[in-house]
Amino acid sequence: MALDVAAIRAHVPALKSGTARFDAPGGTQTPQPVIDAIAAALTAPLANRGRNTEGERNADRIVGEARSALADLLGTTPGTVVFGRSATQLAYDLSRTLARGWGPGDEVVVTRLDHDSNIRPWVQAAESAGARVRWADFDPATGELLPEHVAAVLGPRTRLVAVTGASNLIGTMPDLPALASLAHAHGAHFHVDAVHYASHAVVDLAATGADTLVCSPYKFLGPHLGVLTGRAGVLESLRPDKLLPSADTVPERFELGTLSYELLAGASAAVDFLAGLEPEAGGSRRDRLVASFAALEAHEDALRERIERGLADLGGITVYSRAARRTPTLLFTVAGLRPAEVYRQLAERAVDAPAGSFYAVEAARRLGLGDEGGVRVGLAPYSSTEDVDRLLTALGALER
Ligand SMILES: Cc1ncc(COP(=O)(O)O)c(C=O)c1O
Repeated sequence: MALDVAAIRAHVPALKSGTARFDAPGGTQTPQPVIDAIAAALTAPLANRGRNTEGERNADRIVGEARSALADLLGTTPGTVVFGRSATQLAYDLSRTLARGWGPGDEVVVTRLDHDSNIRPWVQAAESAGARVRWADFDPATGELLPEHVAAVLGPRTRLVAVTGASNLIGTMPDLPALASLAHAHGAHFHVDAVHYASHAVVDLAATGADTLVCSPYKFLGPHLGVLTGRAGVLESLRPDKLLPSADTVPERFELGTLSYELLAGASAAVDFLAGLEPEAGGSRRDRLVASFAALEAHEDALRERIERGLADLGGITVYSRAARRTPTLLFTVAGLRPAEVYRQLAERAVDAPAGSFYAVEAARRLGLGDEGGVRVGLAPYSSTEDVDRLLTALGALER
């Protein structure tokens, strides 16, 4: 069934400001049930996790519910769901833990397609360990990062391959299972950045082949925090730095300090909201999420095609999002206008389509755009046909 976009929009108070928003890859706007869940967590008694007092039990329940919700979203088990401040923080922590096993002669593979969050932590950890960094390059003409691009830099001493599930700059979705097979054939750890991917496709951890994977709920209608999960047994095998009295169990071993219970309550509500996008769907929450994401993909594909047709009709626009499999995230430049100027003029017409390299600075440079990048248009469940038409009208009215 088609998404009921009007019903979704009615749940998102920030949309009442009237701006046509295309900034979702930077962070989505928040539905009321997510806001309510955060407020409810803080309104009820709340204490550190435990079983004796109501506040302790509330915290315990919130954490348990959030692990179950994210496990349903990522196709993993609640016991392997780790919460942190952001995907970047979790990647840094994981890189330092994994790097303890690296030394001179070892190699670490990163890609030029990735957000810096899935590059710099590994590069810096490799440098500290004396390991060598190998760069897998994508094809700027097609936007594709193919298995052969990664295979070219794998070797007997490869210890880690870190790849994005989807580029936050140009949307490219590499063939994760193929890359996982390559990494594993070389005995390397395969880490996936699913921060952009998880906004547009339902993650199935086992199907991706990832040993570890991160995502960020604020990219899919939730609050600002990060999530790490891992294949069965992988997290158990790792020994991160931690305080002496804190729990040494998995996943708690990876969670430094006190969790943000209110944000976890919001993350659960976001997953429930996503599971309800396809109201006709039944079955488990995972089943409903799969149905919702199928409807979401159809909705976003239709809007993306409308934008692509409109951009082609306008002329003078170069689109860099060209991979065969990609999210509805379009990066483009306009002849004769700097991206920041396009962003400014669109904002004057209440159309929010930001400009930049969006921390995917290696990718922007490889595309020949430098750190200035381009204008990025991204979609969310609340994106509407009217938004798209306003974007195209505003682009048609750009002043040079
Ligand atoms: C693909 C990708 N990876 C990682 C990040 C960083 O996520 P966080 O802000 O949770 O550290 C982002 C944020 O834009 C992203 O788009």
